Amino acid sequence: MAFIQKLKKIITADNTESFLNEEVQESYHSHSGAVEEAYKKYVIPCKIKELAKTGELKILDVCFGIGYNSAAAISAALEENPNCQIEVIGLELDPDIINKIQELSPPIPFYQHYKQLSANTLQFTKDNVTVKILLGDAHQTSTTLQDNYFDAIFFDPFSPKTHPHMWTTSLFAEMYRVIKEHAILATYSCARVVRDNMKEAGFIYDDGPIVGRRGPGTIAFKMEITLKI
Ligand SMILES: C[S@@+](CC[C@H](N)C(=O)[O-])C[C@H]1O[C@@H](n2cnc3c(N)ncnc32)[C@H](O)[C@@H]1O
Repeated sequence: MAFIQKLKKIITADNTESFLNEEVQESYHSHSGAVEEAYKKYVIPCKIKELAKTGELKILDVCFGIGYNSAAAISAALEENPNCQIEVIGLELDPDIINKIQELSPPIPFYQHYKQLSANTLQFTKDNVTVKILLGDAHQTSTTLQDNYFDAIFFDPFSPKTHPHMWTTSLFAEMYRVIKEHAILATYSCARVVRDNMKEAGFIYDDGPIVGRRGPGTIAFKMEITLKI
């Protein structure tokens, strides 16, 4: 089901554009800086540059929106290692927000290629980088993903207050299934219920960076537990 949505363009404090969803009454990024948020809350905590040195990087961009988080990650990875093989899979419900990519020119080097994306063109390959959006409810689309596949997960739904169904133990359990051991899931929220649900799904978590809000984000890791009986 797509939102019947009213999308209003906004300029955030780092002078980069985002949208306000007037139906949800939430913006797609922090007002303190949309592009800043992509780098500081997702790319840096998930250690994208370090991962790029290995030559292969698979990122799951949950709630893809206008794609700033993964476009920033690709840019950082290619800056570190231009030959890195990169695969991004985005999960997004709403075709209208994907069509808004055309209207944007954020200071993210790889974003120029994201402009190929639309509700009708959900994937592209540029040299050693592949980007593919799975359009639909993340609860369903995530079930099609392989076990132990991703080196990083960017988890960026609307807030737990307006979208509690996106922060459930069952969706975190899917994230746990698809993330590699020692890989990092990053999100902006530090809400108690979010962390409790992550833990119930098997993750251990820690504070993420504080960027543009009072509380920290959360980073979560998969840990293999060997029980000796
Ligand atoms: C906070 S915005 C994400 C911003 C995005 N990461 C970016 O950089 O532009 C939340 C996104 O979640 C999407 N969404 C809402 N419900 C969803 C669902 N059930 N499955 C997948 N995406 C969903 C919305 O359409 C919206 O694009």
